[in-house]
Amino acid sequence: MKVLVVGGGGREHALVWKISQSPLVEKIYAAPGNGGISGMAECVEIGDTDVFGLADFAQQKGIDLTVVGPEAPLVAGIADEFNKRGLKVFGPGGRAAMLEGSKVFAKSFMKKHNIPTGDFRVFEDFEDALENIGIFGFPVVIKADGLAAGKGVIIAKDRDEAEQGLREIMVERRFGSAGDKVLIEEFLEGTEMTMLCFVDGQTIVPMESARDYKRIFDDDKGPNTGGMGTFSPNDIYTPEIDREFREQIMALVLDAMRKEGIDYRGVLYFGLMATGDGIKVLEFNCRFGDPETQVILPRLKNDLVEVMNAVTERTLKDIEIEWASRASVCVVMASAGYPSDYKKGEIIQGLEGPQEEDVYVFHAGTKQDSGIFYTNGGRVLGVTAMGDSKQQAREKAYGAVERIQFKGAQYRKDIAG
Ligand code: AMP
Ligand code: GLY
Repeated sequence: MKVLVVGGGGREHALVWKISQSPLVEKIYAAPGNGGISGMAECVEIGDTDVFGLADFAQQKGIDLTVVGPEAPLVAGIADEFNKRGLKVFGPGGRAAMLEGSKVFAKSFMKKHNIPTGDFRVFEDFEDALENIGIFGFPVVIKADGLAAGKGVIIAKDRDEAEQGLREIMVERRFGSAGDKVLIEEFLEGTEMTMLCFVDGQTIVPMESARDYKRIFDDDKGPNTGGMGTFSPNDIYTPEIDREFREQIMALVLDAMRKEGIDYRGVLYFGLMATGDGIKVLEFNCRFGDPETQVILPRLKNDLVEVMNAVTERTLKDIEIEWASRASVCVVMASAGYPSDYKKGEIIQGLEGPQEEDVYVFHAGTKQDSGIFYTNGGRVLGVTAMGDSKQQAREKAYGAVERIQFKGAQYRKDIAG
């Protein structure tokens, strides 16, 4: 098979790495890929939201399966275009991807179908939102409706911060039209969990649990990012929580999608909060998590391409998905300044040399030129390790982080701690 992976971050590097292990695969292309991916796949310079360019490329090259990593092309309808042209694609269509593309759509869907989530109100007018900013007390959560690369969520501890956040989204338009509508949301206290699920429209199968660290600084301080580290399994995900998730969330979501005529085929990401009042859904994403994928895929025993084929062919119920019982930990190394402005083009040192067993350095924002790797994004590397315990995986991951250097590198010291 020829496989095209769309995207160029750490998640896509992990996808390419896992796909390259499939005996079914003879050639992998990545669009646009990155420095690390270029060692495993042929990178082509097509932007990940150039839906028509990507479909043309898939036709010209006779691609057998296209795997879409990021949300933007999915929300832009890449799967619909590929399906229209008879090209096999892993990822939901544009309407289904609205579960991530519009937080207002997602929250309304949850409310309508009694899927547990925090209370919320939707506002289109700044003055109106300002007037109601205290309806759930403080702290409060303010969210831009549309896509904002994981940064459109503001947790405001008091009225001043809330007003400032609202102004950034609705007046200063920090996220452009993504801020046409805002959600004011009840602040939920608890511990976060990520559950990724394979969905083929009829069957939904959860992967292993993970924990993502969204804030930039240790002890969950500072602004939200795309994710600064992860580990799997998530130790707070007990068998009781698993039962609750399957029965009171996952099954309801599948049923609700059927009722709404949403034919979801791909990965559905559940961002969850375990609260004193049960598990609640914080968000849906319409794709693999980044950096959750970096810790989940090393634990998957199956051939990922076989699983993806089953998703596209709606035969997920016929396969058994198996996981290694080992733990994995991923520490993200980011550029100085991220998640705000940051510089690119710093030389990365310490990547060469023999790969240590059970350590995987997934590249997120890197570029390779004449054998030298340069930083090329906010999140630069996802340094991942597996171990017999979380502690062992953590030590290996941090050991590898310490051997890698680039100017201004920042990373959290408390991942999986
Ligand atoms: P989202 O993109 O909606 O998942 O929000 C990003 C992050 O903001 C989540 O992973 C949580 O850490 C935090 N968050 C979102 N909504 C809430 C909420 N209602 N209460 C507390 N934290 C939240
Ligand atoms: N790690 C968060 C996300 O993928 O959205």
